Amino acid sequence: MKILNFGSLNIDHVYQVEHIVGKGETLQAQEKSIFCGGKGLNQSIALARAGAEVYHAGIIGRDGGMLKEKLESSGVNTALLKCVEGASSHTIIQVDSKGNNCILFFADRLLDIGQDYIEEVVNQFGAGDYILLQNELNHTELIMEAAHRRGMKIVLNPSPINDRLRCFPLEYVDIFILNEIEGHALTGQTEPEAILRDMGKEYPGAMTVLTLGERGSCSLKDGRLISQEACPAAAVDTTAAGDTFTGYFMAEYLRIGKRAEALALAARAAALSVMRPGAADSIPMREELGV
Ligand code: RIB
Repeated sequence: MKILNFGSLNIDHVYQVEHIVGKGETLQAQEKSIFCGGKGLNQSIALARAGAEVYHAGIIGRDGGMLKEKLESSGVNTALLKCVEGASSHTIIQVDSKGNNCILFFADRLLDIGQDYIEEVVNQFGAGDYILLQNELNHTELIMEAAHRRGMKIVLNPSPINDRLRCFPLEYVDIFILNEIEGHALTGQTEPEAILRDMGKEYPGAMTVLTLGERGSCSLKDGRLISQEACPAAAVDTTAAGDTFTGYFMAEYLRIGKRAEALALAARAAALSVMRPGAADSIPMREELGV
């Protein structure tokens, strides 16, 4: 069984600020750093650091060498990455003194994922292999169609939430990994249990994992609901906490097939990640979790 993550790779420009800048306000940042990020890249790194074998596909620009190197030094296979002329996608991230963030994301049209590239990548995989997807690429729905045709199992973390989600063939998804905002967008519900129950009714063959930030996480599969508390952590930067959770949960669940244990490990990994600055750089190694 192989794992393919077809996802974004961003250069994150991170500004440390006293508070997140408001409408019409000009604020001097206290510090600036550049990190490797992108929900796709972060999740591949979390998978690899959790011990999974993962192939990353996605597009970088000429300035994307640092992104490729970060994946490779974390043990991710980059043979399927595509490099194009022009700039890599990037973000402007503000992080406040409590570790909260806000993210502005820009991807050039050169980074359009086309059908040929999708087929070229997905045709390397087959029945029983897994594909992990987020919602930062254009045409995720085409990737889902191609993966489904190949008989791959689909894991979807539809982050960041936007209207593109309406075009996704969600009936193909085997595992949903959602936060409450995404859960609300999919079901109209706000209570965690109601979100899970509605997901179970709408997608009876799928498992749903719902992350609740400081309140932990919960999951529904075959009508059985389980919960996991969050691990206490003094947050300096919450960027990529969700990506760390997703990668660790998926790696551990596919390794041992036990939801409760996978949720517990993912909670510990996410807690460690918020105690460090940056996205990819904040993701812990499996050994740091004492397993
Ligand atoms: O989830 C965190 C990531 O979201 C950042 O690394 C940034 O690139 C944005 O994609």
